[in-house]
Amino acid sequence: MSFTQKISRLTSTPFVWLFFAGFITSCSSSKLDLKGFDLAKGEQVYNNLCMVCHTAGMFGAPKMRDKSMWASRIAQGMDILINHGINGFNAMPPKGGNASLSDEDIKNAVAFMVSQSQ
Ligand code: HEC
Repeated sequence: MSFTQKISRLTSTPFVWLFFAGFITSCSSSKLDLKGFDLAKGEQVYNNLCMVCHTAGMFGAPKMRDKSMWASRIAQGMDILINHGINGFNAMPPKGGNASLSDEDIKNAVAFMVSQSQ
């Protein structure tokens, strides 16, 4: 059997297409749903504070827009990311070090960071 025959045989099997469709669906659904967050407000908070560490990756902070650095963190889901943003996590200070920010500010800032990094 020639290579092209093998390929056409393979692609005529519905199972192969089902597998393929499932693969594509699982890729796209691994992105977090950011509806309900105010990304524009989050960007302001980010630019005023979070960028100090997250632009260059200071102290091991996951760099903004570096998908490979964010993938495993994003896999934790928004609740844990927000919790770590509010309460701190290792060298990540609670609320990025500015206690006067509201929980809402942190939620939006985390959502903005995720939106740029997933
Ligand atoms: C002083 C530096 C610094 C500032 C300022 C800072 N971060 Fe971080 N951030 C870190 C470091 C370091 C880590 C990595 C901690 C680790 O994984 O050990 C981190 C990790 C994170 C994570 C990932 C947590 C996880 O579960 O993987 C989120 C989300 C985050 N920061 C959000 C923010 C937000 C939002 C702000 C602004 C309000 C901010 N950070 C400001 C240093 C900083």
